[in-house]
Amino acid sequence: MAELIHEQVDADVAKIVPVEAYPLAYRDAADQARAEQADDARPEFTLDVNPEDYDVIFVGYPIWYYHLPMIMQSFFDAYDFSGKTIIPFNNHAGSRDGGTYKDIAGLEPGAEVLDGIAIAGENAEDAGNSVRDWLTGLSY
Ligand SMILES: Cc1cc2nc3c(=O)[nH]c(=O)nc-3n(C[C@H](O)[C@H](O)[C@H](O)COP(=O)(O)O)c2cc1C
Repeated sequence: MAELIHEQVDADVAKIVPVEAYPLAYRDAADQARAEQADDARPEFTLDVNPEDYDVIFVGYPIWYYHLPMIMQSFFDAYDFSGKTIIPFNNHAGSRDGGTYKDIAGLEPGAEVLDGIAIAGENAEDAGNSVRDWLTGLSY
């Protein structure tokens, strides 16, 4: 989805990388994600840009157990986006945005959080038209 957005928006792209990599095996990764949520953990990440240097930040993530992955909580804890515009986009397997756009607005009360786009993971590669229409609706 980030690549699809990048095709239409003149933007830098950077990846939120967990310091401790998630296990490749689905069950192990799912167990870790669930434990992080239960513990209200803030997993560490690296990011090779400072998103506070930008006025508009597209932020993408999957839904994990109906919520933002905890590493996204770490991301929003790490930066103050007051006065900036956040445009969320996410993958899911049925939960759509899971209320996460409102959650982000709560985490970043000084930011304007626009209506994002939620694409089912299985449709993500074919989501070009949906993403383009959404961006056009946002005047991109
Ligand atoms: C640990 C874990 C928990 C997940 N929980 C949810 C969920 O609560 N709701 C949902 O719609 N999708 C959930 N998913 C599916 C992810 O959102 C999905 O894997 C992601 O959007 C990427 O899509 P893909 O796996 O088809 O590439 C979960 C995935 C993982 C790994």
